[in-house]
Amino acid sequence: MTNETENHLPRGSRVNDEGHLEVGGCDTVALATEFGTPAYVYSEDDIRSRAREYQSAFKARTDDFEVIYASKAAPIVAVLRLLAEEGLSVDVASGGELHSALRAGADPARVYLHGNNKTGADLVKATEAGVGRIVCDSFDEIVRLDALLDRPQEVMIRVTPGIKANTHTYIQTGQLDSKFGFGLEDGLAANGIEAIRASRNLRLVGLHAHIGSQIFELEPYVKTIEALAGLADDAGLTPDELRLLNVGGGLGIAYEPDDDPPSIESYVDLKVEGVKSVFDPVPRILSEPGRSLVGNAAVTLYEVGTVKEIPGVRTYVSVDGGMSDNLRPMLYGARYDALIANRAADDPDTRATIAGMHCESSDVIAADVALAAPRVGDILVTPATGAYGHAMANNYNCIPRPPVIFAKDGDARVVVRRETLDDLISRDV
Ligand code: LLP
Repeated sequence: MTNETENHLPRGSRVNDEGHLEVGGCDTVALATEFGTPAYVYSEDDIRSRAREYQSAFKARTDDFEVIYASKAAPIVAVLRLLAEEGLSVDVASGGELHSALRAGADPARVYLHGNNKTGADLVKATEAGVGRIVCDSFDEIVRLDALLDRPQEVMIRVTPGIKANTHTYIQTGQLDSKFGFGLEDGLAANGIEAIRASRNLRLVGLHAHIGSQIFELEPYVKTIEALAGLADDAGLTPDELRLLNVGGGLGIAYEPDDDPPSIESYVDLKVEGVKSVFDPVPRILSEPGRSLVGNAAVTLYEVGTVKEIPGVRTYVSVDGGMSDNLRPMLYGARYDALIANRAADDPDTRATIAGMHCESSDVIAADVALAAPRVGDILVTPATGAYGHAMANNYNCIPRPPVIFAKDGDARVVVRRETLDDLISRDV
């Protein structure tokens, strides 16, 4: 790595005079000694700067907008708190994410509840907390929610616009054949709107669509906006029923140095201009990013435990984590980069495959990457693990989940402590 920030590392990262990778002004090798490995290290400034980029890109184009943090990307109380400080609303996809958002001090009126099968308990918790908007996802939910209310509740309707984003099929959500939302082509969206209108307590205030995640092509968003405009016309939505328009999240990020996703600015520009060109009056424009706010903000630190060279085949470098702290490579074939934090200035001269410590051959967190002569005891870093890493962490093989460290201006603090072995058995009775 050169002494300049790479696209996929947290902003402001650099190689210090000792040749170590620095994140948030902190030497990652020193962080590994202080907090142990594995550990997720987030640069606070990185998250704030991306939140500000979203806010200012909108502000430059419209007065009426809302940036909503899709908390599933990293439902960490400290992250939620930080993004609330930056003026963002929050999207929660379960009672648990709602619980975390409320703990972080989120204004319930600015919470959006999602989910294709919100439980009765989730709906009760949300309505009792005064959640501002519930995004209806099915006819069954409309009935269930209406029945438990004795007052009006603002709702949106989730539409599956029949648009396929070019991303892994597991994270496509806009196509007709989806468990999410009400389809357009099959007429379910129009019927869903009628069902909300016919309910006693639900008040429709807008449309929602989310077509998928880790998207690099912006064109599908234009099509989605046009499809929603068509629905609004066909259903004769009144301005009150169409105060809000949410075209979801999904902006992709750089996982490897050569990845070149669209900028936040161009993504926001396309959405705002797209909505303005087909909606009159123009509703409030909502955007719901998760990954593009927090994904590049973090790296994971590991310690190298073994280096196994299979002559003529490959070199395996095994680290003290793996699929329990980053499931994405196994689930989506996601590719990650890796570097040796304690020799970050050295030329990467060895091709290696980074394996985890789990009893599973698929436990490979970075395949065929170039490293600076890896050795036992090195601190190995994988960039771009801020989104859906901690969020999807698990305890396979009874491995405790890593802590989350916030780094800023050379100071580091624990915002989620490391799980202990006793935590792992604390629910066993
Ligand atoms: N809004 C809704 C309704 C969503 O379902 C999602 C993500 C988002 C917003 C945020 O999308 P983002 O800006 O983060 O792309 N576990 C997968 C990603 C699943 C995303 C699910 N929904 C992964 O690790 O790639």
